[in-house]
Amino acid sequence: PALDDLAGRSVVVSAGGTREPIDPVRFLGNRSSGRQGVDLALAAARRGATVTLVAANVDDGLVPDHPAIAVRRVETTLELRDAVRDAGAAADVVVMAAAVADFRPATTTTHKIKKTSSGPAPIELETNPDILAELAADRLRGGQVVVGFAAETGDATGDVLAHGREKARRKGADLLAVNEVGADRGFGDVPNEVTILDADGSVVGRGSGTKSQVADAVWDAVAARLRAATT
Ligand code: C5P
Repeated sequence: PALDDLAGRSVVVSAGGTREPIDPVRFLGNRSSGRQGVDLALAAARRGATVTLVAANVDDGLVPDHPAIAVRRVETTLELRDAVRDAGAAADVVVMAAAVADFRPATTTTHKIKKTSSGPAPIELETNPDILAELAADRLRGGQVVVGFAAETGDATGDVLAHGREKARRKGADLLAVNEVGADRGFGDVPNEVTILDADGSVVGRGSGTKSQVADAVWDAVAARLRAATT
């Protein structure tokens, strides 16, 4: 990729996975490591962008220490939403690479929930906002490019892309990087493959290899959009 095709651009990348507290010691969470988001932030910085990395529960050892990357740590979906929208107000690009919890406990107790002889109490859930869909609908800044990620498993018909297309249309993001996940791909430190769709579900790019190579494929598609908008 061009060395500085994001020079002068401001980008926001969310990474990691949100945690929704149940009580002071327990949470609902997911297994997202944050590596893809971290590699997106590093690739953007390498290509000249100024980056805000909104890191949801990313291990300290993974969080980059880079002069062009400002890190904002968050835990819950509502915190992630505030941080992304705050930084996103002035950003040319927002990439939602974080795994966001769809639900959160309706109440969080201030004391640790105890075992009782009557057995476990049910945990009531409420729905979290869809941050990506909100960003796509609200357009915090004119001309902003909004990018989502979707991890899809092939089903009986194996059609990962059909699910991706449906999601691209439903979310309204400018670009959606669709990632096939399964037993041996997608999570942790393993090779990755993405197909990049536009809001109509048309294929506009592909990336495979390391998460860093996938990150560059995403930025290639973003840079092409930004160029098209300014010419
Ligand atoms: O619907 P699904 O969770 O598969 O969509 C994934 C994409 O949507 C990711 O970009 C993720 O960051 C974003 N998302 C979000 N808010 C949610 C759920 C997902 O921004 N509540």
